[in-house]
Amino acid sequence: MSLNELKEIVSLDQKYYMNTFGSRTPLCFRSGKGIELTDVSGEVYKDFFAGIAVSALGHSHPKLVEALCDQVSKLLHTSSVYYVENQAKLAQKLCEISDFDKVFFASTGAEANEGAIKLARKYFYERGIDRYEIITLNKSFHGRTITTATATGQDKYKAPYKPLTPGFVHVDINDIDGLKSAVNEHTAAIMIEFIQGESGVHPVSDEFAKTIRTICDSEGILLIDDEVQTGIGRTGKMFAYMNYGVTPDIMTLAKALGGGVPVSALLAKEEVASAFKPGDHGTTFGGNPLSTRAGLTVLDVMEQEDLVQNSAAVGEYMRDMIKSKLCDYIKEVRGMGLMIGVEFNNPIAREVVNKLIDKHYLVGAVGDSILRIVPPLIITKQDADEFTDALLQCMD
Ligand SMILES: Cc1ncc(COP(=O)(O)O)c(C=O)c1O
Repeated sequence: MSLNELKEIVSLDQKYYMNTFGSRTPLCFRSGKGIELTDVSGEVYKDFFAGIAVSALGHSHPKLVEALCDQVSKLLHTSSVYYVENQAKLAQKLCEISDFDKVFFASTGAEANEGAIKLARKYFYERGIDRYEIITLNKSFHGRTITTATATGQDKYKAPYKPLTPGFVHVDINDIDGLKSAVNEHTAAIMIEFIQGESGVHPVSDEFAKTIRTICDSEGILLIDDEVQTGIGRTGKMFAYMNYGVTPDIMTLAKALGGGVPVSALLAKEEVASAFKPGDHGTTFGGNPLSTRAGLTVLDVMEQEDLVQNSAAVGEYMRDMIKSKLCDYIKEVRGMGLMIGVEFNNPIAREVVNKLIDKHYLVGAVGDSILRIVPPLIITKQDADEFTDALLQCMD
């Protein structure tokens, strides 16, 4: 495989693919194993980005490969007109490991969040209560459908698509007074990421999280927890809310749940979930035999290999190493588990990403000065050490 092959792929992309991603990083991968990805010219890269926090088990995990090959050879899709064994079993498993009672499967994070917003509104509609407004946070990210882009607290994602879905207001993260004054008689829900990922790994404070729960309880409104990025062990607990001792009413998952196979989930307490009646919500692909087999296998492997604990331990170790070795260059290291944001003193993040690529490491940049490091949850302390050394060399 050669550089010419990459050029051919780039030119096909430029000719036929809608230009929604601009000029991409000029790499194209053919295969992966563990935390390594091999590109079309045979170069091997260490993946500390995991396809934006998706490939929790790394690449081509043997148990996931075996389960998916088996499933592909047996049955891919039947629709939810019929009962789906893997769907029922994955729903059971997710309820057992969380604080929720019912599950609905979709395919993407945006779609799960869209479902969460519909469910919150339906909950009050069922009760004849005129509550429809959703409070979300500035700098949040909830997806790119019109409604989830409206929920997203960043203008750049929604300005061209007006008119937007009515009924959304935004407050700053950790602004308790702002939140209190945004709540009114029409508020249906407060929707948050416990750690904002897309805007640079910003955790909500403990006090803010607890205040949200208190407000929700006292006003009778719902807490929607978007765990599309933070869920499934990323933050050192199975779900990020577990770091805060605050239980949401509705939770959404996607990214890591399928280990790379598209599957997302909407979970809710029974009292809330029962607001959806037959015909209220649906999707063709959601929870099909293949994607839910992926979800079941990811959760099995997470348990067998103790990956939530690994995420907590290696994540803490890695943040400490980065803090101590790069203290002259960084303003802050944020995050929990293996969801790590490194904010530099200077706007060097993109340059650092490119230097890391030269050293065959993959991470993401947020804006000019933040690195987002979200590796597969299988990484070891040695991987973290090697990465931190490579990062330090990029400071020259
Ligand atoms: C917190 C959060 N919510 C929702 C989404 C949207 O998910 P998807 O791209 O699968 O629609 C993302 C994607 O990055 C996300 O990080």
